[in-house]
Amino acid sequence: MPDKTILRALAGETLPVPPIWMMRQAGRYLPEYRATREKAGDFLSLCYTPDLAAEVTLQPIRRYGFDAAILFADILLVPQALGADLRFVTGEGPRLSTVTTQADFDRLGPVSDIHETLSPVYETVSILSRELPRDTTLIGFAGAPWTVATYMIAGRGTPDQGPAHALKAENRALFEALLERITEATIEYLSKQVEAGAEVVKLFDSWAGSLSGADFDAYATAPAKRIIAELKARHPGLPVIAFPREAGDKYIGFHKATGADCVALDNSVAADWAAANVQTDGCVQGNLAPGHMVTGGQNLIDETRRIVKAFSNGPHIFNLGHGITPDADPANVQLMIDTVRGA
Ligand code: CP3
Repeated sequence: MPDKTILRALAGETLPVPPIWMMRQAGRYLPEYRATREKAGDFLSLCYTPDLAAEVTLQPIRRYGFDAAILFADILLVPQALGADLRFVTGEGPRLSTVTTQADFDRLGPVSDIHETLSPVYETVSILSRELPRDTTLIGFAGAPWTVATYMIAGRGTPDQGPAHALKAENRALFEALLERITEATIEYLSKQVEAGAEVVKLFDSWAGSLSGADFDAYATAPAKRIIAELKARHPGLPVIAFPREAGDKYIGFHKATGADCVALDNSVAADWAAANVQTDGCVQGNLAPGHMVTGGQNLIDETRRIVKAFSNGPHIFNLGHGITPDADPANVQLMIDTVRGA
């Protein structure tokens, strides 16, 4: 049995106090993040400067003592490594060159070239694996192919992933070729993160909830299954967390269908429901609404306790249901942690 709490939960152990980390724990709600981000100049420079990316990864560990650190990077570095133009417009989010035609697709580079762009990320991982406290688990990550494709097709974030759904309907062969390229790149990218020292990897399928029926199976479940199988073949025993956000009923059976060791839950599902229907298959992660990090107070305490209790009979990693927002109060994060740990 491993001794780090996150690894124990991922191995299926029910712990008396669930281990904790938080999506976007290195982020704009922290003054020390904003200072380092300023020093880096812009968001992408921060991602590609290993010393600074490692520094912001460590900040929430120093401040709060989370049980896991998540590599500081972004899911859109993979499209960039495949040749997409990428920039982050402050206050507006990401902008990418679009892939909607065969000619756009043909301009993308081969998977074998991605490491040239992504090697600073592997360097960040190796710095972290040396510098993290002994009991802190290092989580690597990538976007799941569908979610990454939604940004590559639209060239930006979209409320309903309309452009990706349109390409899927109009040119399914091209849509599937793009998903295939992203899937292969994701396997190579995550594999290098593991070689550099990541102990767990997480696949973020933030827009899985907009896929339904057979599309969910083909474009959320199947790529996750393939990525997980290939990673586990190369790195036996590697624990994987899958996050098919807003999957609703499709959360049921997702561990078994993909081989994930842990399924991360968004805050639209009730913890009692998920304990009865999802946690029965293995570890779950989640699922406090991020808004509590803004509003705090007794509601935060009550909700945190309710979630801890609902999942107390099985393996559970405490987390938010999505990333913490820039307007969150750092004191509320401490209140959540103290509540989980029973202080
Ligand atoms: O969780 C962490 O602390 C690790 C780092 C991390 C970031 N992004 C840093 C980031 C992780 C795991 C991600 C994942 C990510 N990136 C996802 C999947 C998870 C999710 O939130 O659904 C997605 C969809 C992206 C794409 C992305 N990156 C968008 C749409 C944006 C702009 C929106 C925003 O919040 O401003 C980003 C920027 C981004 N990625 C920031 C951070 C800390 C904020 C950028 C800044 O500092 O200006």
